[in-house]
Amino acid sequence: MPTENSPYDPILYDDWHVVAIADHIKPDRPLQVKLLGETLSLWRSHGKIIACQDRCPHRGVALSLGEIDEKGEIVCPYHAMSFNKVGQCTRIPADSKVTSFPKNANLQTYKTQIKYGFVWVSLGEPVQEVPLFPEWLQEDAITFECGPYFINASAPRIIENFVDIAHFPFTHRGLLGDPAHPEVSDYSLSVSDEGISASDIHFYQPNPEGTGEAKSVSYLYKIVRPLSACFRKGEAEQFFSIFLAVTPMEETKSVAWLGVSRNYSSEVSNDELRTFQDDVMAQDVPMVESQRPQKLPLNLQQEFHFPCDKMSIAYRKWLNQLGLQFGTC
Ligand SMILES: [Fe+2]
Repeated sequence: MPTENSPYDPILYDDWHVVAIADHIKPDRPLQVKLLGETLSLWRSHGKIIACQDRCPHRGVALSLGEIDEKGEIVCPYHAMSFNKVGQCTRIPADSKVTSFPKNANLQTYKTQIKYGFVWVSLGEPVQEVPLFPEWLQEDAITFECGPYFINASAPRIIENFVDIAHFPFTHRGLLGDPAHPEVSDYSLSVSDEGISASDIHFYQPNPEGTGEAKSVSYLYKIVRPLSACFRKGEAEQFFSIFLAVTPMEETKSVAWLGVSRNYSSEVSNDELRTFQDDVMAQDVPMVESQRPQKLPLNLQQEFHFPCDKMSIAYRKWLNQLGLQFGTC
């Protein structure tokens, strides 16, 4: 339901959004998640992921406080009203003789799917598939998920932070950059209906392979949807790649998720690499949470830009063309 904090935005309403890591949904317990101002209950019915309104139609109690019974139905914790996987009311214990129920006893349910280890939900009628992350699907890929990272910032500000490498030597000193090597050389940029792609980015890294040896590395960034982006390090067969999906809970409250895929360094554990990503994100969060305005300005005159910000500028122009309103100003 659109609110003051969450106006209706048809582009995001009809897109897919990550709401959870699939393994985090237990068979007997629902999980409460927030998306575009809606509060949803996420649960499993015989393995299938269900997303429904997190509000019992009887007295408005959160169904996510309830449980999943042996029939794979969600049971309200207040009066034990039950609902099946398509949201139909199936049982009212206080009135057990009634076996057929009016439509207003049913729940609103939403489209779901699992991809790249994440649960994706669309509140509307998705016009595109979940964005492609080819490195995750490669046969030799070693993959893991990171998040949730809860951030008090608009989702487009978080996407822009992900593709901004000029902050690496300062915000991520020692991890992703060195203040003695802050220059961002010119790079190739292309814009199409599929989004924005920046290639031939060469940047100095203090320890790119974890061996302690500093060198210049080559990056590729793509913004594939208004709130999804990819990063790839390495141009040849060896790759280290990250997929970022940002969930807009409200206009200035978001959740970031990372899907990480690589086909080398199998001796380094996923947990070790996840800790590294957690540390990087912990450095980014105070930066993006402090940005004012919180919503991303699409009028290019409103902020000052560096020449190397051409990817961010292209992103703002693209969002403006698409007519994205949620999280922008
Ligand atoms: Fe950063």
